[in-house]
Amino acid sequence: MTTITVKVYRFDPASDSSGRLEPYTVQVNDGARVLHALHAIHDRIDPTLSYRFCCGSGQCGSCAVRVNGEPVLACMEEIQDGMVIEPLNLPVQKDLCVDLNQNINAIAHLLPAAEPVMPTKEQIDAIKPLRSCIECLSCVSVCPAMDVTKFLGPTAMRQTMRLALDPRDSGDRITDAVRDGLFTCTSCQACWKVCPKDIEIPGKAIEKLRAFANKKGLTLPRHQEVAALVKETGRSVTRIEPTFLEQVGEVLEPYGTGTPKATMGFFVGCMYNMRLPKTALDAMDVLRRNGIRIIIPKEQVCCGSPLIRTGQIDILDDLKKKNIGVFQSRSIDTVMTMCAGCGSTLKNDYRTPFMVMDINEVLTKYGIEPPARLPLKATYHDPCHLLRGQGISQQPRELIRQVVDLIEMPAICCGSGGGVKSGMPEEAAALGKRRGEEIQKTKADIVISSCPFCEFHIAGHTDRPVKNVASVLLEGYQKKDKQSKRV
Ligand code: SF4
Ligand code: SF4
Ligand code: FES
Repeated sequence: MTTITVKVYRFDPASDSSGRLEPYTVQVNDGARVLHALHAIHDRIDPTLSYRFCCGSGQCGSCAVRVNGEPVLACMEEIQDGMVIEPLNLPVQKDLCVDLNQNINAIAHLLPAAEPVMPTKEQIDAIKPLRSCIECLSCVSVCPAMDVTKFLGPTAMRQTMRLALDPRDSGDRITDAVRDGLFTCTSCQACWKVCPKDIEIPGKAIEKLRAFANKKGLTLPRHQEVAALVKETGRSVTRIEPTFLEQVGEVLEPYGTGTPKATMGFFVGCMYNMRLPKTALDAMDVLRRNGIRIIIPKEQVCCGSPLIRTGQIDILDDLKKKNIGVFQSRSIDTVMTMCAGCGSTLKNDYRTPFMVMDINEVLTKYGIEPPARLPLKATYHDPCHLLRGQGISQQPRELIRQVVDLIEMPAICCGSGGGVKSGMPEEAAALGKRRGEEIQKTKADIVISSCPFCEFHIAGHTDRPVKNVASVLLEGYQKKDKQSKRV
């Protein structure tokens, strides 16, 4: 047995005007789950504590709560001393019980076809990854699109895709999905990362539904323009100044005379190439100063992410073939990205014969010369495609802390991904505003991120300068160089 103290959210609408966190100390068996701690509190301290459970084994979904801010199944999560247990971020009925009705009722049911055809093995295999939902609504509780639009939500889209694949169903599922907000999803992946059944809703439902919508001619006009641009130019944005690729040679040697620590291919991506070339140039300076040799094939093209996320995949294989070929032909074994979206696409949507690393991984793996400290407080915005798409959160923080003081803020989507900034600008602005409000609360002097889409979008929603990790490191080096010249 072990003694733990946890805080539990309490709210009774009959007597309380607002909720509060109440501390409880109880004894539980070693290896006990959060649900066992709730049972202990209920049985030994306060029988009025309300919470839901049924199966006790991760099968019914009724016990979902937030633990230390993250949705989990109470019956599966091991209890730890000091945990904070709160209801899901949905309307609270009492204590840990939330109102599930609206979202459960939004999940579509099969409409039997007049002459049902049994699914083939291939169809069953395609349906399988979508059908293990236990309706816990963890995904719904974290979806940013649902906060600012009438989007029906991730699990409703999951079920719509599941029915779209089922020949026994007679509904017009694609038209329904578009009506219910299919194009409002920002591809933030928050739903997938909290799903206890690991259902890959963004990739296996949203993007697939968008591809079906494309076949039906329902792609948003702005997304069609982006696809046309990629087809015509190989790039998803237009050029407004000399591009990064026009400003650099194919091989950038490290500064100094030492042996390079590593040789990397560099995949620059459309945004850093065409819209923010200065940031990519800053990154090259930082890499060269830290002993990295960089090879930059000039024939590289868009990674295809803007097309994958919006369901326009007809030329995707050509883009993949071209990009893989330009690095392969130079015998490059590691390709570095600095755009979170490109990195996530190359790692998750390609099958590359080379390793792909984000710049933050490269710099922390090989180590950096300490920069001079800048007298600034900075907050860091986690790009969704870096945090959830690539599992990278500590590396940028490790770099940032070497040059400025870091103030944390919640990791929420800025609203620029999934084609939302171009196709749904009002939604992107609403999410950007929310990001701006969180930045304001930190009282930081600057915002740092590691994705051109986030940096570009957030800059429109805060009065603080928004900078890339590499640019801030370079400022630290420039200050160091100035100081050493003075000595
Ligand atoms: S990827 Fe993000 S925006 Fe899209 S459904 Fe999931 S949580 Fe919502
Ligand atoms: S998709 Fe996953 S997170 Fe969402 S309700 Fe179903 S089981 Fe829960
Ligand atoms: S009680 Fe059924 S999933 Fe937790």
